[in-house]
Amino acid sequence: MKQKITVTVNGSTEIVCNKNENLLRVLEKNGYEIEYECQEAHCGTCRTIMTEGEVEYAYEPVAYIGKNEVLPCAAMIKSNLNLTIEW
Ligand code: FES
Repeated sequence: MKQKITVTVNGSTEIVCNKNENLLRVLEKNGYEIEYECQEAHCGTCRTIMTEGEVEYAYEPVAYIGKNEVLPCAAMIKSNLNLTIEW
């Protein structure tokens, strides 16, 4: 049985998904247009604010990841997340 995870966006919108899903795909499926290029954690274009939660990267990140940031393109969701997405 797949473990359900909640991704909270901007403190209010809750997206339910499966553990280990790709964060960029989950956001896109739910109507969030995240800008991206490489999709391999190299360029940093998709950098997004993550104030809480845990991800694992499918690729070793080359792009800088600051404190409270995530690269959704290569991030597999491991726990409930809190994101801030500016439109
Ligand atoms: S799209 Fe390049 S790091 Fe995510």
